[in-house]
Amino acid sequence: MKSITVTAEHEYQVFVGRDIVSEVLNHIVGASRIAVIHPQSMQTLAGQLVQTFVDVETISIEIPDAENAKTASVMEFCWMALGKAGFTRNDIIVSLGGGATTDLAGFVAATWLRGVRIIHVPTTLLAMVDAAVGGKTGINTGEGKNLVGAIFSPVAVVCDMNFLDSQSHEDYVGGLAEVVKCGFIRDEGILNLIESDLAGAQGPNWEHTPEIIARAIQVKADVVGNDLRETLGTSTGREILNYGHTFGHAVERIENYTWRHGNAVSVGMMFVAHLAQLAGRLDPEVAERHRRILSGVGLPVTYNRGAFEQLHDAMRIDKKSRGSKLRFIVLEHVGKPTILEGPDSALLIAAYAKLGQADVHA
Ligand code: GLY
Repeated sequence: MKSITVTAEHEYQVFVGRDIVSEVLNHIVGASRIAVIHPQSMQTLAGQLVQTFVDVETISIEIPDAENAKTASVMEFCWMALGKAGFTRNDIIVSLGGGATTDLAGFVAATWLRGVRIIHVPTTLLAMVDAAVGGKTGINTGEGKNLVGAIFSPVAVVCDMNFLDSQSHEDYVGGLAEVVKCGFIRDEGILNLIESDLAGAQGPNWEHTPEIIARAIQVKADVVGNDLRETLGTSTGREILNYGHTFGHAVERIENYTWRHGNAVSVGMMFVAHLAQLAGRLDPEVAERHRRILSGVGLPVTYNRGAFEQLHDAMRIDKKSRGSKLRFIVLEHVGKPTILEGPDSALLIAAYAKLGQADVHA
């Protein structure tokens, strides 16, 4: 088992391994009572998990699957369940599910009694390397995604890779986009490992999977430890975790949220690789390396489904663009992100044109 320390409001450990969830949870929970918040689709797994607790009273709170969980009414339902159970500050919430579950349950934990302890047990690759680590919690409203929430760190995160065996191939590969992102922004070792076996890297049973997951979490831990609340606004701030996300979020919006997040981030990283190259900041070979790795693990690297104006408008309303100017995280080298603010429309249009060309190498 590997463990990574995250320094936030308090220090906590992220554990990565196989067959670890019961042992780690029993060790941390001690004699507390726990409420397991899980989506409907995890009912059986949640039941099995609850049975492994020794001498611990458990409450099960079932929420809708995926993004349907991230609403004010589901929050209210969880508060009601905790209230009826007389859930106290000595008790612990355990979230079991993907990123939507950890986001919702984290916000429930942040708000109940002004903050109770939570342990995240992410069950998808995307949640292990991104959503469950770093303390971002929240829900969606009619006005947009993740507009309401809090930074609220868990007391531990348990990434049991057994859960990954039941993820679909497409969902697993979608999660790899965030792992590759961590490689490009900070840890070239991740890229070297993936390049050594692009086919093997596409599954959870590859010999290097625990290492690339732990290294991606380490990248996130380092970045979050330096700028938990994303206030720095510099090339060492939390904003660099949004590499590929400004364009990626626009794609998600244009596609009415039917695209996997990782697929949108993949074309988003390709877009900023073209942009950085056209802006004279990035060596063409590094842009080509994006294409080789992302397409090599089965992620999309081209996009031409919307008029550029649509994408541009969608990028402008992305909450991560600060003030009136569009901001992109771009690379100067592997491991050296920087901020490109207010690029010329001509440059954006040229990068978008390159993104649409399937037969042209980066
Ligand atoms: N998912 C980006 C962040 O946690 O900041």
